[in-house]
Amino acid sequence: MDNIYFIGFMGTGKTTISKLIADHLNMKWTDLDDMIQQKEKKTVVEIFRENGEEYFRNLEKEVLKDVAGKGGYVVSTGGGIVIVDENVKIMKESGLIITLVASPDVIYVRLKDDQSRPLLQVPNPLDEIKRLMYERAPFYIKGDIIIDTSFDEPEIIVGEILKEI
Ligand code: S3P
Repeated sequence: MDNIYFIGFMGTGKTTISKLIADHLNMKWTDLDDMIQQKEKKTVVEIFRENGEEYFRNLEKEVLKDVAGKGGYVVSTGGGIVIVDENVKIMKESGLIITLVASPDVIYVRLKDDQSRPLLQVPNPLDEIKRLMYERAPFYIKGDIIIDTSFDEPEIIVGEILKEI
C-alpha cells in the first residue's frame, strides 16, 4: 500500500492534519523529525547546533527511505524535505503527496513563541519565513494536492482532503 506524505512549510499543520487523516483512513502514522530524534537520541535543535544542517538532511533522507520502503503510512515530513530533489522523487514513487500551505503572517503567529525550529531562531523570523517560503515554493507546488490551512479548523481541512483523495 502506498504512503501519503504531508509536505509544506513549518507551521502549516502537517503534524495535526496528518494524524487526523491517518485516523480517518485507518493507516499508520509517522513523523520524520520524530524518527530522526529517536535515531540520534537528540532533539532537532541539538542536531542542528551540534552537527549542522547537512548532517540533519542526510538523516532526513535515510528515514524517508526507511518509510518509503514500508508503505501504508501517513507521513508528516519536515518543511525542508523538498529542498533535496531525490527526496521528492522518493515520495512521488512511493505515494501521494499532499502540500499544506499557509500565509507567512499566519505561520509567524503560530510559531512566534516556538523554540523548536532552529531555522527561525533569527532576529527577524517573519522575514526569514518569507524568504524561505519564496525559495521553497517551486518545490511545494509539486504536491499532488495543495490545501491552504490558514483559516479553517483542522476537521474542515481534513474533510477537504478526504474529498480529494
Ligand atoms: C525544517 C522544518 C522542521 C524540521 C527542521 C527543519 C525546515 O520540521 O525538520 O527544523 O527546514 O523547514 P517542521 O516543518 O515539522 O517544523
